[in-house]
This record gives sequence, C-alpha cells and structure tokens, in this order.
Amino acid sequence: MNIKNKTILITGASSGIGELLAKKCADLGAKIIMGARSEAKLENVKNDIINKGGQCVAVKTDITRPADCKQLVAKGIESFGSLDILILNAGISMWAPFNEIQDVQFFKDLMDTNYHGALNTIHPALPFLKDSHGLIISVSTGQAIMGFPNHTGYAASKHALKGLTDSLECEMGDSVQFMDIILGWIRGTNLRSNAFGPDGTQIRENKKDHSKESISVEECVEGIINGIQKKKRTVYLPWKLSLIPFVKLFFPWYLNRKMRQVTHDQE
Ligand SMILES: NC(=O)c1ccc[n+]([C@@H]2O[C@H](COP(=O)([O-])OP(=O)(O)OC[C@H]3O[C@@H](n4cnc5c(N)ncnc54)[C@H](OP(=O)(O)O)[C@@H]3O)[C@@H](O)[C@H]2O)c1
Repeated sequence: MNIKNKTILITGASSGIGELLAKKCADLGAKIIMGARSEAKLENVKNDIINKGGQCVAVKTDITRPADCKQLVAKGIESFGSLDILILNAGISMWAPFNEIQDVQFFKDLMDTNYHGALNTIHPALPFLKDSHGLIISVSTGQAIMGFPNHTGYAASKHALKGLTDSLECEMGDSVQFMDIILGWIRGTNLRSNAFGPDGTQIRENKKDHSKESISVEECVEGIINGIQKKKRTVYLPWKLSLIPFVKLFFPWYLNRKMRQVTHDQE
C-alpha cells in the first residue's frame, strides 16, 4: 500500500509511537488526523508537520468519551473528505504485582482507554472506512495474545481489544482490512512513567532500565510503516514475538516461566 495521499487517523499522537507515526506518515505524503488529550503537545506535533509542508488536523480528544471520538472523526472528514486508515494507538499501562494492588479501580481506567476508547473511535469511523475499503490498525502488545506478570489489567484490556477487532473482521468480510501490531518493550515513549503502580497512581519516576530486548521507538515506527506498505495482517516487533502463538499452543508452561523471568529481570 502506498501511504502517499492516504488519510490516516491516529489516536494518541501527542507522544511516543503515535507522535512519530504521525510525523513519518506525513513525511510520506499522508494527510493526518490526530487526537489526544494534551492539546499543547498535539499542537507542537501539528506545527512540526505543517512546517515541513505536511497536511494535518489536530483535535483535542479524550477517547474514553464517545462524543469526543465522533467529533475527531467528523473534523477529520470535514478537512480531508475521506478516511483510509484508522490507527488505534492511544493507550495506558500498569506495573503492579496483583497481590500488592490496594484498589482495583484503575483496572476500569485501563479498560476505558485501551478497550472502550478504541471501540468509541472505531464506531464513528467505520462507515468512512467501508467507503474507502480502508484499514484498522491496533497498536497492541504480546500481552494481547498471552498472559504477563504485573500487567493483569493491561493484558485484559488488550485481549478485549483483540476480541473486538477479530470479531469485527469476521463481520466485515473484505470491506475493511485489519492489522495487529504486536509489540514488545519500546524505548523512548511515556508509557512506563504514566503506568499505574500498585497504589493506583502513575509511577512517574522510572528507575527500571529497559530490557536488552527492547527496541527504539524509531525502529518500532519503521516496522509499522513497513507492515502497512506490505499489507501484513500481523506485525511482530521484534520479530521473535511471532513465536508466541506457537509456544503458547505447545509449551504454555515454558512461556509462563519465561515471562516470569523476563519480568524479574526488569525489577
Ligand atoms: N511503549 C511500549 O513498550 C509499548 C509496548 C507495547 C504496546 N504499546 C502500545 O503502544 C501504544 C502507544 O504507547 P506509547 O508507548 O507510545 O506511550 P505514550 O508515549 O504514553 O503515548 C500514549 C498516547 O496515548 C494517549 N492517550 C492516553 N490516554 C488517552 C485518552 N484517554 N484519550 C486520548 N489519548 C490518550 C496519550 O496522549 P494524552 O496523554 O495527551 O492523551 C499519548 O499520546 C499504546 O497503545 C501501548 O499500549 C507500547
């Protein structure tokens, strides 16, 4: 798929993966519709794109609010007339052993953003994506297809998103395409410092080093764009995450042990 002249809506474009995706896709000639809650950060991204001659509209959006998502889609359509690709990128995370959690209230916040937020965005965007035979991309994680220590609520919300998009794919037939981006650890984003800790507040100060297995946000975005251009159904970054479905099927005990070890190494 050639990204040039495609209209691409990206949620969570005020930082991290979403910000870089918006800039790189604009560099390739795409028209960008962006949403996030931090208006000032979103404006900075928009100015960067416009100063380089790109086309872009930024709309302050809290994806947990259906009305905000309707407005995001409507303003994008008003500006560019069509929608080719929806990138469900906005997300929040956690890092907390389940038995240390003091109040499970933040599990609802994880679900509200990672699952309901995606649902709220897909719903108003779908008619336009059907018109363009467009593409819905979930920026997700290995934790959408396996369990992972310290991430119970996050993994549950990403499993829910996968269930939603897989089911919608069954309903849509060939009229809309779907792509999952299954990520490992990514360096250079705010996900970790914004993650909920055991007391339900954001961790902020992050003393944990990223694992040797992590990849940079630049490599991540390059991999996503490559996946779009090659029309892949699933993109695994790094590639070895593509072994997860196989290992989970035949050696689930090994996968659980390995994930416990990986988490332990991070602490
Ligand atoms: N970083 C990793 O290691 C990693 C690994 C696997 C998967 N992922 C996935 O990658 C995606 C992007 O994360 P990132 O690493 O780039 O983290 P990030 O730097 O924290 O970016 C998250 C983005 O989501 C937006 N967002 C959060 N809540 C929102 C809401 N209610 N409404 C609208 N926007 C909201 C944030 O903007 P505002 O705060 O301005 O709203 C921000 O732009 C997430 O879905 C995450 O699960 C990341």
